[in-house]
Amino acid sequence: MSRRVLVIASIKGGAGKSTLAASLAVHWLQAGRSVALLDTDPNKTLSRWHAKEGALAAATLRTELDEHAILPRIKELRGNHDVTLVDCAGFGNQAMVFAVGGADQVVVPVMADEASVYEAMRTLKVVESAGSMADREIPAFTVLTRVKRSSVARHARAQLEALGARPLKAQLADRAVFQESTFYGSAPSNLAPRSPAAREVREVANELAEMKWGRG
Ligand SMILES: Nc1ncnc2c1ncn2[C@@H]1O[C@H](COP(=O)(O)OP(=O)(O)O)[C@@H](O)[C@H]1O
Ligand SMILES: [Mg+2]
Repeated sequence: MSRRVLVIASIKGGAGKSTLAASLAVHWLQAGRSVALLDTDPNKTLSRWHAKEGALAAATLRTELDEHAILPRIKELRGNHDVTLVDCAGFGNQAMVFAVGGADQVVVPVMADEASVYEAMRTLKVVESAGSMADREIPAFTVLTRVKRSSVARHARAQLEALGARPLKAQLADRAVFQESTFYGSAPSNLAPRSPAAREVREVANELAEMKWGRG
């Protein structure tokens, strides 16, 4: 896989976007890829984690709060990194539309409850609109995150499938190591490479890599 832009979006705050972005970044860094992070969230969560000089610091970070500069930034980063991960704010805004417009692939983290599934569907609508504006199909997937009970997750997954939201087979459980990692500016693949959390991140990364990409 090379030269790919993965945008992590959801109009729901706390869905696990920044955690997924950091986790995938560290996974791909450990695998020897060059990774760029574009933080477009005014809360600058990812930028703060990056500043802690943990494993995440090996990625190039750009913080871009000017929505009109997002697409040029994506182009610049895409030009010299294997993977560019774009983290969005937890609300639907124009910045998200621009970010999605520059994506080769979009992933929408979704928690296993009815309201989260609903908000994931609304996020996918934004992706669809951005795609028709750009006159291309932007491949989008959902990934269940912060899963507490697999029985509930199965229910959410069935609903996502029925709604055409393409949930990945891989999912992230609710695990303390994801939260701990944020204090170190790191992620499970570095802090606890043999943990179930690191395995889940690897599974998500591998599944995304095998899925359809818009360009490249
Ligand atoms: N898989 C997970 N397991 C446990 N805690 C998680 C997981 N994913 C996210 N969190 C926690 O949930 C909160 C929100 O996550 P975050 O990634 O910041 O969401 P978002 O970027 O979508 O707002 C944070 O406290 C984070 O540590
Ligand atoms: Mg965030």
